[in-house]
Amino acid sequence: MSCYLGVDIGTSGTKTVLFSSSGQKLASATEEYPLYQPENGWAEQEPMDWWNAVCASIKRVIAASRVNKDEIGGVGLSGQMHGLVMLDKDGKVLRPSILWCDQRTAAECEEITLRVGADRLIAITANPALTGFTASKILWVQKHEPHLYERCNKILLPKDFIRYMLSGEYAAEVSDASGMQLLDINQRAWSPEILEKLAIDKSLLAAVYESVAVTAKVSSSAAVQTGLRQGTPIVGGGGDQAAGAVGNGIVKEGLLSSTIGSSGVVFAHTDAPRIDKGGRVHTFCHAVPGAWHVMGVTQGAGLSLKWFRDNFCGDEIRLGKDMAIDPYVIMDKEAAAIPPGSNQLLYLPYLMGERTPHLDPKARGVFFGLSTFHNKADLIRAVMEGVTFSLRDCLEILRETGVSADEIVASGGGGKSMLWRQMQADVYRCPVVTTISDEGPALGAAILSMVGTGAYDNVPEACDAIVRKKDVTRPDDASAAVYEKQYAIYKTLYPILKTSFEQLTR
Ligand code: XUL
Repeated sequence: MSCYLGVDIGTSGTKTVLFSSSGQKLASATEEYPLYQPENGWAEQEPMDWWNAVCASIKRVIAASRVNKDEIGGVGLSGQMHGLVMLDKDGKVLRPSILWCDQRTAAECEEITLRVGADRLIAITANPALTGFTASKILWVQKHEPHLYERCNKILLPKDFIRYMLSGEYAAEVSDASGMQLLDINQRAWSPEILEKLAIDKSLLAAVYESVAVTAKVSSSAAVQTGLRQGTPIVGGGGDQAAGAVGNGIVKEGLLSSTIGSSGVVFAHTDAPRIDKGGRVHTFCHAVPGAWHVMGVTQGAGLSLKWFRDNFCGDEIRLGKDMAIDPYVIMDKEAAAIPPGSNQLLYLPYLMGERTPHLDPKARGVFFGLSTFHNKADLIRAVMEGVTFSLRDCLEILRETGVSADEIVASGGGGKSMLWRQMQADVYRCPVVTTISDEGPALGAAILSMVGTGAYDNVPEACDAIVRKKDVTRPDDASAAVYEKQYAIYKTLYPILKTSFEQLTR
């Protein structure tokens, strides 16, 4: 039997899953690591924490599945996008990685727009300069830590750093590379013009491949550290959103998904680059060779609920431990007892600034309408509703760009929770479905490795064979009407608060 390994280097942890070639899960392991916030709005992680998590989770998966390492036909990597990893000439990490949700680079974004020109930037990279993207993080290091930039020999994304640790090879692939804002999205290659204008030497970047290409092989030292066979092929893989979309079967025009992980993303496959002139949604290369995708991103989706859990739900965490259930399941039950609209309470999920639709690193989280009537359950529900309203903002813009779908595939935390699925169906006013496997990015990465090593001819064929839908949730008219009213108020809040956010963070 041939099986395939999907490794997803996420923000809260690394999830490694072994699948059969028909997509059946054979074993899975997750290893968590901390996120550091040295200043308000900053977010960093230690790349070696990711590597240790990758080694431990691969070893656990091989042991639990009892497969022989020789049966593992390929490895696919997926990971949090945009994070800046800098290595010196000996391949040593120069500083903690500056992550996708870090908001320190507003000034560098202005600088990028000035140097490249707003129209040119959109024409080449399909996106305006954003604090989340890697280019502005590179400029920040150039300016604030020139002594480190001088010693920098390679710039990699999180999953590409793991590829380097697994194989000694420097390689990138188009879906994740799109989020660096250095790639020509139409050509699917690094842009000489952008690199020149940002004074970034091309030799600092890795060679860029399509996501299914075999880019490297497991080295002898990594074989010892992970338990994998030396020489196991590693394909390009994908950024977590593109890989997750493959795992959800979003590989043809007209298919749409909504994923609530740390971030929240509404994602549509497109056969050609489709660009929102206002840059409110991202257009990137897809992990499907020759295809693109467009997505709206909410910075603080699952991140909002995790923040609320960690700071205010000690009881649920303790009870969960005693009863061996996930505290989110308990929180979900509490929220389900509150009516739609959270008793006139609203939440803006802008804990780490916001991308779609506001593109504002200075926005911050808000509970609006609090009264003594409210209790913790109202707040939990309001957080879930606020995240869903923010995803509706993403969906509205995608609809404006001409994307339409008869149903939306829900995944991540928002796909697992029945309450959140119903909320999404009601708020989007569209049926919501899930898939049999909830392994999103890890499954997508494994599928890319199946295609890259010849188990399937192409990505859509593999998805047709592997991805199965289940659980259709239809909108409920009465709840949808309540949400429509709440959403109308929600939309008025950011414009009123915009200047106050600016004053608060100045
Ligand atoms: C996508 C994005 C997030 C991160 C973390 O643009 O920033 O999805 O990849 O999940």
